[in-house]
Amino acid sequence: MPSALSCLPEIFANLLVILCLTRTGYGWLPDLSSKLVNSINRIPSISFKSNASLPDHFTVLYQDDNSILLGGREKVYNLSVFDFNERKDSSIYWASSEAHSQLCNLKGKAEEDCQNYIRILFQTTPGKFLICGTNSYKPLCRILRRQNDKMIVEKEMEGTGLCPYDPEHNSTAVYSSGHLFSATVADFSGTDSLIYREPLRTELSDLRQLNAPNFISSLTYGDYIYFFFRETAVEYMNCGKVIYSRVARVCKHDKGGPHQSSGRWTTFLKARLNCSIPGEYPFYFDEIQSTSDIVEGRYGEDRAEKIIYTVHTTPTNSIGGSALCIFTMASIQDVFGGAFKHQESINSNWLPLSESVVPNPRPGECVPDSRVLADRNVNFIKTHPMMEEAVGAMHGRPVLVRVSLHYRFTAVAVDGQVRTIDDETYDVVYIGTDNGKVLKMVNIPGINSTKAHVISENEVFSINTPIRQLKTAPGYGRVIAVTKDEVKLITLNHCETIHHCNECMELRDPHCAWDLMKSACVSLDAVTSFRYLVQDVKNGNILKCKNSPTNDNEVSVVKHERKEFADDPLEDDGFVDELKSKEAAEEERKECGDLGRVASDYLHMIVGGAIVGGLVFGFVCGYLVSRRFHAHPNAPSFIEQRNHLDRLNVNQNSFLTPRPKTVNLDVLNVSAETLPPKKDNLDSLKNLNITNEGTLQKIKKTYI
Ligand SMILES: *[C@@H]1O[C@H](CO)[C@@H](O)[C@H](O)[C@H]1NC(C)=O
Ligand SMILES: *[C@@H]1O[C@H](CO)[C@@H](O)[C@H](O)[C@H]1NC(C)=O
Ligand SMILES: *[C@@H]1O[C@H](CO)[C@@H](O)[C@H](O)[C@H]1NC(C)=O
Repeated sequence: MPSALSCLPEIFANLLVILCLTRTGYGWLPDLSSKLVNSINRIPSISFKSNASLPDHFTVLYQDDNSILLGGREKVYNLSVFDFNERKDSSIYWASSEAHSQLCNLKGKAEEDCQNYIRILFQTTPGKFLICGTNSYKPLCRILRRQNDKMIVEKEMEGTGLCPYDPEHNSTAVYSSGHLFSATVADFSGTDSLIYREPLRTELSDLRQLNAPNFISSLTYGDYIYFFFRETAVEYMNCGKVIYSRVARVCKHDKGGPHQSSGRWTTFLKARLNCSIPGEYPFYFDEIQSTSDIVEGRYGEDRAEKIIYTVHTTPTNSIGGSALCIFTMASIQDVFGGAFKHQESINSNWLPLSESVVPNPRPGECVPDSRVLADRNVNFIKTHPMMEEAVGAMHGRPVLVRVSLHYRFTAVAVDGQVRTIDDETYDVVYIGTDNGKVLKMVNIPGINSTKAHVISENEVFSINTPIRQLKTAPGYGRVIAVTKDEVKLITLNHCETIHHCNECMELRDPHCAWDLMKSACVSLDAVTSFRYLVQDVKNGNILKCKNSPTNDNEVSVVKHERKEFADDPLEDDGFVDELKSKEAAEEERKECGDLGRVASDYLHMIVGGAIVGGLVFGFVCGYLVSRRFHAHPNAPSFIEQRNHLDRLNVNQNSFLTPRPKTVNLDVLNVSAETLPPKKDNLDSLKNLNITNEGTLQKIKKTYI
């Protein structure tokens, strides 16, 4: 139970983190320097936007080898993935009916919201598509069939639980085994979050399952569907509220439970994702923002791994930090096979549950028919949806960390396993930011670690345009970057802009190699032969440039040497490497010089501010909490209580709950639904949060 005393360690931990951040800030940033920094006019790009006055809330719905389908307002655009040429004759138009948009206006929504934003499109069978739109806050789906190059509407059905009401809601969906699995909200006010596959859904208003989630992505893997999201952490029982990154999974073939559990998942489990910098006080990047697709490759070990890249940030009201982490699918599965978290009563801490009380078959595993499961099994998973262990990132730390007051990571996409001339493979990773930039980096795996080498930093959109989605397109360096109202096809292939062999080597871009014959840095997808090419992604060794192409023997000797070099496991400890890393550190220090100076100039101010802020926060926190509990000595945790109350209010007219029959639901609900949006669950803690944010913001301001 929170008390004034239990708040204090919290405050000091936060202070420590801030201090550590400022003090070691640039110690973490071996990658602060990018080899290339490209301004907006130096990046080849093709832009696509509609000329309407209302926003489009663009999202890539579907991509194949030659087209992308872009969801916007009242329309799905079909663009060539090679040149963004719009195939106007295969656009899909779908506007809200007059009645629906009028009703939406009546419910108090703005004109912008009372439109049909297409959010879901899946090809269900060849030539057949399932598409869903927000339809003026009344989600609707259609089955379309292609007939003589025209799309005809075969069927129309309600989209509640499949598609969000609000085009800005963070929802996700995946189509697998003939079913749509969606993670969204199922009510007008956006509070009834659910993971749904007809007719199964997550428990209603059960904060142990979902607690105000922002869904990020979903994918199918083996017998399961995995969902990535961030949500308020129900297991965090100290002051205030904290968001955690999560992965959840359900069995694809779940048939629901027996009796009254027939409409509920019997396999829903979730676990925390741990993307943090290890240490006595690990520093967490708790808020997941984006994930890549699954990539299969070798990462420093002999066996192939299936991994995903994820980007995480610190909370918006703290110092801006972003990280790129890798999670292996195997480690995610291991956590789901491990201990469950258990909460004895509503106020007790969540603790690991002894394996001996876990029923058989193990809850969460796929079974042939879940409808015949014992009540004991079904009840167990309902009360134990959370795994004890957090999924650890590969090698226990992020691949790339950036601390910046100016931007955060928002999106990630991977060009997986790009082959180099000596037959090694590397992942090229693109990261989007909320200030319109795209970073291009390469993941260089070692034995027990993995290093990120940032190749370039590219201004793709103006500084106040967050990138929402990134996708790779065919061709080395080709990326699709999506923002709210504009989509760009950009080429981040820098080979041709480089005119010296040393620079070409140091770029360490798997896409580029130096042609000793032509004396040019060439893109590997444009060459027909690897003869006379040199490349060194692993070390960026410029000695490779010393070889003249005049005789073939010499070239082959070089090749041989490089093979040995690459295979030597001790190479990382080598003297040359040490020298090189010293050089790199030197260079980095130079580049970080400014930041360092600014940071140290302001360090005193920040420390002072933070201490005063911490004391004020601690005092207010202690005072309020002790008053609260003085008045109700036996009161249960009021945070949860309020949450439950709020949920209950909302759920009266929730999706898939029996509700009293009314004559005209829409009209009757108008007054309830036009109420101002739900207040902060933590009403009583709100003052605390504000003081907290206030001090942090002050600190930020002095910092700037
Ligand atoms: C998009 O356009 C391409 C080329 O015209 C076409 O082959 C493809 O079927 C179109 N996609 C849809 C969903 O209409
Ligand atoms: C969705 O996620 C974005 C990016 O993290 C965030 O800025 C936005 O507020 C979220 N949308 C909603 C409706 O919460
Ligand atoms: C997260 O990972 C770090 C580094 O491996 C570890 O120190 C920390 O204890 C982990 N945290 C949780 C909650 O598992």
